[in-house]
Parts: sequence; C-alpha cells; structure tokens
Amino acid sequence: MRQAVVIGASGGIGAALAAHLVAGGAFQTVYGFSRSAGSPPPGVTAGRIDLTDEASIAAAASRVRTAQLVIVATGALQTDRMRPERTYRALDPESMLEAFRINTLGPALVAKHFLPLLPKDKLSVFACLSARVGSISDNRLGGWHSYRASKAALNMIIRTLAVELSRERPLTICVGLHPGTVETPLSQPFQRSVRPEQMFTPGVSAAHLLDVLSNLTPADSGHVLAWDGSRVPA
Ligand SMILES: NC(=O)c1ccc[n+]([C@@H]2O[C@H](COP(=O)([O-])OP(=O)(O)OC[C@H]3O[C@@H](n4cnc5c(N)ncnc54)[C@H](OP(=O)(O)O)[C@@H]3O)[C@@H](O)[C@H]2O)c1
Repeated sequence: MRQAVVIGASGGIGAALAAHLVAGGAFQTVYGFSRSAGSPPPGVTAGRIDLTDEASIAAAASRVRTAQLVIVATGALQTDRMRPERTYRALDPESMLEAFRINTLGPALVAKHFLPLLPKDKLSVFACLSARVGSISDNRLGGWHSYRASKAALNMIIRTLAVELSRERPLTICVGLHPGTVETPLSQPFQRSVRPEQMFTPGVSAAHLLDVLSNLTPADSGHVLAWDGSRVPA
C-alpha cells in the first residue's frame, strides 16, 4: 500500500512529477496538493494546500495518513508582491518576506506535518525542489537576492532536518533537488537568455528527478542533488 504525495501538483514540474508517478505504477495512490484548483493529472488524488496557511497543510497531512514519498514541488521567483532583484537597491522587506514565506517557511511547515507520516522501519523520502542558485559557494552571477537567500535557507532547513532524522528515523532520507532549467511559468520571463539545448521540458526534468530519487541512499540525506544526480555545493 504505497502512497506518494506531490505538493504543488499544479506547477509545471509538480504536475509532471505527479503524472510520472501515476504512470510508473509503483504507488497505489498519488496525492497531488495544490493552491489553485486547476485540473489534476489523470489518476492523481487531488487536494488543496496553501503553504502560507499552516492549517491547510495540517489538513492535507491528516488526509494522507501514511506515505513513502513526499515531494514539495512548490516555489516562486516572482509574484504580485515580489520581483527578482537585479541590485541591492531594489531590496524590499515585503518582497523578501514573500520569497521566504513561499520558498522556505512553506516547505519547512510541510516537513513539520508530513514527516510523521513516513514509516520508521522502511526507506522513505522527503524531497524539496530547491535551486542551484541557492548555493552560496556557486554564486558568481549575483542578483535575485531574495530568491537565492530563500533557497539557501531552505537548503539549511533540509540539512537540519536530515541531521535530526538520522538520529530518530535513519531510514528517512531528506534531500533538496535542482531540476535544471525547466520550461514552466516560473522560468518563462527569463527563458530568452537560456539556450534551447539547456532547457528541459517539465516531463524530462521530472523523469530525471524521479531517477535520482529512486537511487538515493541514507548517505545522500541533507544534500541538494541536481537532475543528473550530482551534488550541488552548499
Ligand atoms: N523552472 C525552473 O527552471 C526551475 C529551476 C530551478 C528550480 N526550480 C524550482 O522548482 C520548483 C517548481 O517550480 P516550477 O518551475 O514548476 O514553477 P511553477 O510552474 O510556477 O509552479 C510553482 C508551484 O508552486 C505553487 N505555489 C506557489 N505558491 C504557493 C503557495 N503559497 N501555496 C501552495 N502552492 C504554491 C504553485 O501553485 P499555484 O499554481 O496555485 O500558484 C505551483 O504549483 C520551485 O521550487 C522552483 O524554485 C525551478
């Protein structure tokens, strides 16, 4: 009775992950939680979640009850209240808070409510979509201060969860994932500067990510892995 959960199943990558999980047939139920109703991929058991509303996260978790795989595929680079900055002169407290609310606090609260659903006696995975731009040592371009910082903070949450899990449930693996550059609404405003051969479709990215997840061992816990399985430096 294996169950998988995708939070953010309305997103480009989240929908593709949910569809691949259904098609793969390894899970009896694939839950897809989203903020916007939309139409879930066929075969996905849909539900509502808003990462800025903890009660909605708790309600979603109580619906699932048990799962072997939880993927948090939410995230935002630009909203009505936030714009990716090109310079420190554009820093705005509300915009920065919005980035942290969605990209850091949201996945952390999902961990709070969904980690207890993972079995203690079998391998299980909690994965969050992060981004290579959250790597501090890899930051040579600058810009996107709030998005980068919110993903770097997410990576620290993942690392901290992994340390705690290694003590109390060592078979639960907690990782961040970098999906590559993917053709989705999130990347749409910036796609002109990306060479076509460097851009994945959501389906290709999702297939790579599920391949990475299926090869994880407890030694990977706490790390951020890219679509090709390589570790993204901290
Ligand atoms: N696309 C890329 O090139 C790329 C590169 C590196 C990393 N990533 C990361 O990959 C992840 C998925 O991105 P994507 O490209 O698939 O973006 P996307 O198509 O814009 O999807 C974003 C998802 O996040 C959800 N979301 C945003 N705010 C939310 C909230 N408050 N509560 C619940 N859900 C919320 C959206 O729900 P609604 O539809 O309801 O708004 C949507 O399902 C993100 O973490 C992103 O940072 C993407």
